[in-house]
Amino acid sequence: MKVLVVGSGGREHAICWKLKQSPKLDELYCAPGNAGIAKDAVCVDIKAEDIEGICAWAKENDIDLAVIGPEVPLAMGIVDALEEAGIKTFGPNKKCAQLEASKSFTKSFLARHNIPTAGYKEYTDKESLLADVGIYGYPMVLKADGLAAGKGVVIPENEADAIAAIEEMMGDKVFGSAADKIVVEEFLTGVEASMLCFVDENTIVPMESAQDYKRIFDGDKGPNTGGMGTYSPSLLFNEEVEQQIREQILEPTLAGFQKDGLDFKGVLFIGLMLSEAGPKVIEFNNRFGDPETQSVLMRLDSDLLDIFLAVADNKLADVEIKWKDERAVCVVLASGGYPGSYEKGKLISGLDDVDEDVVVFHAGTKLATMPEGSKCASCQDDCDMKAAVVTSGGRVLGVTATGATHDEARAKAFDNVKRISFEGMQYRNDIGLINRH
Ligand code: AMP
Ligand code: GLY
Repeated sequence: MKVLVVGSGGREHAICWKLKQSPKLDELYCAPGNAGIAKDAVCVDIKAEDIEGICAWAKENDIDLAVIGPEVPLAMGIVDALEEAGIKTFGPNKKCAQLEASKSFTKSFLARHNIPTAGYKEYTDKESLLADVGIYGYPMVLKADGLAAGKGVVIPENEADAIAAIEEMMGDKVFGSAADKIVVEEFLTGVEASMLCFVDENTIVPMESAQDYKRIFDGDKGPNTGGMGTYSPSLLFNEEVEQQIREQILEPTLAGFQKDGLDFKGVLFIGLMLSEAGPKVIEFNNRFGDPETQSVLMRLDSDLLDIFLAVADNKLADVEIKWKDERAVCVVLASGGYPGSYEKGKLISGLDDVDEDVVVFHAGTKLATMPEGSKCASCQDDCDMKAAVVTSGGRVLGVTATGATHDEARAKAFDNVKRISFEGMQYRNDIGLINRH
């Protein structure tokens, strides 16, 4: 089979790494990919949002299956376009992608199907929102309705900060048109967990759970990021919680999709708050999480290509999905300054020094080729490569280790993190620390 993965982050690297293990795979491509993905797949220089370009290339190259990683092309309708071009695709169509692209779409879906979530109200003009400031008390949860690269949720602690945030979102338009509509929610308390599920039109199958660390600094301090690390399985889950999630969230969600004519096929990522009153949905995303995928796919025993094909063919119920009885920990190495502004092009060293069973998933990396006649930027010698891996994004690498126990996986991940370096590199030391909650 010829498979094309769309995207360029750590998530897409993990997907490519796992797909490569399938005996059914003949050729693997990734558009646009990154320096790490290039070792597992042939990178094709087309941007993930260039839907026309991707469709044309996939058709020309007789791709049997396309797998879409990021949310933006999904919201733009890449799945509809690829399917129209006759290419089997793993990912939700444009109609279903609203579940991530519009908070208000998801809130009304959850409310309509009695799925536990925070109470909410939505606003399309600044004056009515200012008149309702603090409507549910403080902290006040303000959410830009549209996609804002994971940054569209602002949670001011008091009235003055809330007014300032509303001015920024609706007055200064810091999130552009994504905040033309704002959803205000009750503030939920509890601990957060991520649950990724494979979904087709008849079946929803949760993957193993994962725990994400969203803030930049140790102790959950500082601004939100795309995710600074994960571990799997989550230590917060037990049979009782899983049963509650299944009965109160997963089953009504699938029934709701069927009732509303949402023919969802792909991954549904459920952001959960495990509150004293039971699990509640914070948000839906309609793709694999990043960096949840890195920890979770390291533990998948089954053939990922079989699962993708089954979902695309609405035969998910026919595949058995098995997990390894191991724990996984992924530590993200980020550029100095991230999630604010940061410099790119920093030489990464130590990538060849990691243990064989540890996987370093690449996110913001690229291959810098040295000019003719110069020494290799990596080994500083006359090697043949003349190329070096340099940073090219905020989240750069995800060092992912497995172990028989959580502590073993954690120790191995951090031991390997210390062998890698680049100027300004930052990471959280408390990823997987059990007593943080
Ligand atoms: P979201 O993008 O909707 O997942 O929100 C980003 C983060 O904001 C979440 O991971 C939570 O930490 C926080 N958050 C979102 N909604 C709520 C809520 N209703 N109550 C408390 N925290 C929230
Ligand atoms: N790690 C959170 C996300 O992928 O949205």
